[in-house]
Amino acid sequence: MTAPMRCRVADYVKLIETFAPLAGYFTVNVSSPNTPGLRNLQHAAALDDLLAKVIDARERVRKHAGDSPVLLKIAPDLSLTELDDVVQIARSRRVDGMIVANTTLARPSTLREQDRGKEQGGLSGRPLFRLSTRMVAETYVRVEGAFPLVGVGGIDSGGAALTKIRAGASLIQLYSSLVFKGLGLVDDIKRDLASTLLRTGREQLSEIVGADAATITAEDWPVNS
Ligand SMILES: Cc1cc2nc3c(=O)[nH]c(=O)nc-3n(C[C@H](O)[C@H](O)[C@H](O)COP(=O)(O)O)c2cc1C
Repeated sequence: MTAPMRCRVADYVKLIETFAPLAGYFTVNVSSPNTPGLRNLQHAAALDDLLAKVIDARERVRKHAGDSPVLLKIAPDLSLTELDDVVQIARSRRVDGMIVANTTLARPSTLREQDRGKEQGGLSGRPLFRLSTRMVAETYVRVEGAFPLVGVGGIDSGGAALTKIRAGASLIQLYSSLVFKGLGLVDDIKRDLASTLLRTGREQLSEIVGADAATITAEDWPVNS
């Protein structure tokens, strides 16, 4: 492992040791496209070492700090072979969950302002929805229930939240849509999800987590559609 990578791993460990008494959970974010070299931590050997040390740090502080779940956050731009490795490592290191996904470096051909697509950095929001949902489904079929997934990427309505849950998400996060629609969106989504349960005669959303994962993973790859 290179010296900068060793420093990075030490940073994660230090943060766990420092914030464990305060944090509800930790995200091991190895997927931001805006930090040079960060995504290299998704490569198998580096990721295995990082997760081993992070989980070890969490265990060491557990006695005085209590339990802090550790979630691994991945990029939507991983190849499926890379995803195989990442999930296998996440399972063997026993993370508590995965967050799928961060922003994308891809630029869908459906972007209305193609010139903006030439800007550097990660793309979020609605143009990310199909790719990140596909990655949720791909992750879900590989995880086989070992831990829950948090679905994130382009959720801006109750319907989008439901699609993400049916793809395999047990929890969801929103970022960009809160900018465009405001915090009221959270109540709207909760109301829509509750009325879906009523309409379909189900008791809990957990009954439909991953219901569409197999179908979604059989579809054409979504990036440029
Ligand atoms: C301006 C901006 C800053 C972000 N900063 C972080 C960050 O610090 N850590 C992280 O894990 N994800 C970060 N993200 C990614 C979001 O948490 C989320 O994964 C991504 O935007 C997709 O969700 P969305 O389509 O609802 O925005 C950031 C996204 C944006 C747009």
